[in-house]
Amino acid sequence: MTLKELKQIAASIGEIQGWDFSAVRDGRDPVPWDYMTLVRNYLTSSSRVLDIGTGGGEKFLTLSPNFGRGIGIDISDEMIQTAHENQSKMQINNVSFNVMSADALQLPDSNFDIVLNRHSVVNVDEILRVLRTGGYFITQGVGHRNTSNILAAFGWTSNSFGEDWWSSAKELAKTFRQRGNRIIALMEYDVAYWFCDVESLLLWLHTVPLPEKFEIEKHWQCVNQILEKYTTQRGIETNEHRELLIVQKSA
Ligand SMILES: C[S@@+](CC[C@H](N)C(=O)[O-])C[C@H]1O[C@@H](n2cnc3c(N)ncnc32)[C@H](O)[C@@H]1O
Repeated sequence: MTLKELKQIAASIGEIQGWDFSAVRDGRDPVPWDYMTLVRNYLTSSSRVLDIGTGGGEKFLTLSPNFGRGIGIDISDEMIQTAHENQSKMQINNVSFNVMSADALQLPDSNFDIVLNRHSVVNVDEILRVLRTGGYFITQGVGHRNTSNILAAFGWTSNSFGEDWWSSAKELAKTFRQRGNRIIALMEYDVAYWFCDVESLLLWLHTVPLPEKFEIEKHWQCVNQILEKYTTQRGIETNEHRELLIVQKSA
């Protein structure tokens, strides 16, 4: 595709609000767990739940009919503002949202039955402090091999996202275990994943944190390389690597 054509497509795609990726058309091979289904298995109508790095609260608000009371926190003012907007659209009143760092939770000790964290910062000390004994911490993370062929086309070798806060689930499990907690599950999957069209690929590149900010003028030839090499009947092929850790807090 020419730069002009790619710029036209890039200009036609909207902005993602919060972490609502529903505009990305995609597909994947079967995976061993679904985060939302799995989390629901741990929730009861009386659960007190904390969601760390909640983004626009999209997932957390969807889970809210399944628990008693919830707090979603995020370090970004903008994300919390989006979460409040989403909450009022969905008319949900058992959840509150606050700007807060995962590394300094302004929340009492032993206050939650469940602590959730999907694709965000994990601070083991803070999680163990706010979780009650017997309570569960559930985290899904983006694995380091995620979308590796796409990153390679840009000359990036690992999916570090340019951040140093992501620890692999295995390392986290080791830390939780060393502190005497029970590891309920430690799993990963790495499956084929497809962006169904160029719009979806560009929307994803514009939104996710990458080692370098995506700009069509600068990166259009990398996009072309991806389209030439990886376009299949199912779409633009890459891989989805996810990790899962479930921990039960011991006394
Ligand atoms: C990839 S998004 C995931 C959002 C949401 N959990 C989801 O799965 O849709 C990561 C979120 O973590 C937040 N975040 C990053 N560092 C943080 C920190 N130190 N404390 C709290 N939130 C943080 C970001 O602002 C962002 O909203």
